[in-house]
Amino acid sequence: MKKAIIIGATSGIGQAVMLELTRRGWEVGIAGRRQEQLIELQRTNLNVIATQRIDITHPDAADQLHTLIGKMGGDIDLYFHSSGIGYQNPSLDIDKELRTVETNALGFTRMVTAAYHYFLQHPERPGHIAVISSIAGTRPLGAAPAYSATKRYINHYMDCLRQLLHIQGVRHLCLTDIRPGFVRTPLLTDGGNYPMQLDVNQVAKEIVNGLERRKSVITVDWKYRLLVFFWRLIPRFIWLRLKIASKK
Ligand SMILES: NC(=O)c1ccc[n+]([C@@H]2O[C@H](COP(=O)([O-])OP(=O)(O)OC[C@H]3O[C@@H](n4cnc5c(N)ncnc54)[C@H](OP(=O)(O)O)[C@@H]3O)[C@@H](O)[C@H]2O)c1
Repeated sequence: MKKAIIIGATSGIGQAVMLELTRRGWEVGIAGRRQEQLIELQRTNLNVIATQRIDITHPDAADQLHTLIGKMGGDIDLYFHSSGIGYQNPSLDIDKELRTVETNALGFTRMVTAAYHYFLQHPERPGHIAVISSIAGTRPLGAAPAYSATKRYINHYMDCLRQLLHIQGVRHLCLTDIRPGFVRTPLLTDGGNYPMQLDVNQVAKEIVNGLERRKSVITVDWKYRLLVFFWRLIPRFIWLRLKIASKK
């Protein structure tokens, strides 16, 4: 049976991906800050074989990841990183901006580098690191500066790791950058205006299908693939004058 670790499985996309993977026969270990959610998810799903409370902004989070891997028998096939926060923040509330950077950039880097080292030390089986960034990383969004910039950071970081794999001659590790459009989850409850919201279970299915095909980038769904294609054609000087995703 294949084994996955999901960081950020206590709600939203991470939880839906966890349910989809277990439905397809995977065993999973799950993490997040909300311990009671983790316990409840394990109680109600036989394929959740381990839990670990992990706050990715905490310096010991990588050690906690190794503890979770140990609880799963020491071997995993997939590291799935869903943890993230975000706000529309046109007033540039500094607390929101810094917390977003701390979670989406610093916490992300801490965890993904730990997973990368883990897989490099285990060349005996194919490994896979999948992370959720966002279409928000593909162009700057002025109403959510830290969110958009940290998602861009994730896009870029994953491409850097991809190049590093080539430099290091590593062939057994697959990397996937998942870029959803707006998905109906607790993340979108900050009062912002979020059109074209996707169903989280459909999104999870599309993500897991892409993971099984070991795709390097998964943009969800087809409407957002079209949107990203066209908005990439807009010249920068015009883009910066557009009024996008403003507050309600
Ligand atoms: N919803 C969308 O429209 C959308 C679109 C594109 C990309 N995304 C991205 O998808 C990912 C999941 O978001 P979601 O929509 O599913 O939102 P969500 O329901 O709020 O889920 C966020 C998850 O991240 C975890 N998390 C947050 N801070 C954490 C921390 N410091 N340490 C460990 N875990 C932490 C939360 O768990 P705890 O609270 O238990 O720690 C929760 O499980 C995020 O990276 C988000 O940016 C979402």
